[in-house]
Amino acid sequence: MSEKRTLKIIPTADGSTSIFWEELNETYHSLHGATQESRHVYIEAGLEYLLSKKQHINILEVGLGTGLNVLLSLEFALKNPDVSIQLTSLEPLPLPQEVLDNLDFAGTFSPPFSTKLPSFWQQIHTCLPDQKCYCLPNFEFRKLHQKLEDFESSEVFDLIYYDAFAPSKQPEMWELDNLQKIGRLTVSDGILVTYSSSGKFRKNLTLAGFSIEKLKGPVGKKEMVRGYKLASQTS
Ligand SMILES: C[S@@+](CC[C@H](N)C(=O)[O-])C[C@H]1O[C@@H](n2cnc3c(N)ncnc32)[C@H](O)[C@@H]1O
Repeated sequence: MSEKRTLKIIPTADGSTSIFWEELNETYHSLHGATQESRHVYIEAGLEYLLSKKQHINILEVGLGTGLNVLLSLEFALKNPDVSIQLTSLEPLPLPQEVLDNLDFAGTFSPPFSTKLPSFWQQIHTCLPDQKCYCLPNFEFRKLHQKLEDFESSEVFDLIYYDAFAPSKQPEMWELDNLQKIGRLTVSDGILVTYSSSGKFRKNLTLAGFSIEKLKGPVGKKEMVRGYKLASQTS
């Protein structure tokens, strides 16, 4: 990945903003709508899917970035007070404050969550790395300024938000080594959700001990992937 980072705030089609990393020639979200993409892939195919199966959901996010997936998970927790959520987000390249200050997701959330959004935003971005932030009685958040490759954990996770840059821009994130690590970090009935459905990634995820389901993608994308960690395989 490029060492230099020139970051520009860009509008997306649903009214939310995203970021364009000039040297990488890559956006943080879909131009068809940052919030609609994240809600479809991580909340609807991930959290909502697990709702009927688990009351305590331990999530690992690969790539905190703007914090949009955390906001959407908080929105879900507010609507589902009987579910308790712990979310750990990894981010080796935190965004500069001036970029965070100019992002805007407000128009894509409705009340009552939208009125609480500024305070949640503040909590996500001001909490210190590796410290637990109790954003809601049923929601615990922790961010780590670490790469997946360096992350060591005795905890295992029920749900993985795999939100790295695209395989064409950051191929190592979709290679077998990293996916085997994810396999070791996922409980045996746990799931991984991601926007990518590249063939090589699906093959590697299978080798890492997951079965694959291709789901309808968010607006502008044909497919996405949900992987199920198989009990019988060790990786
Ligand atoms: C496509 S962006 C998604 C960000 C975020 N989920 C959001 O909604 O804004 C990918 C993110 O992964 C982060 N990243 C890059 N390399 C990583 C690594 N090795 N481990 C974990 N995260 C990484 C990037 O810095 C970036 O913030």
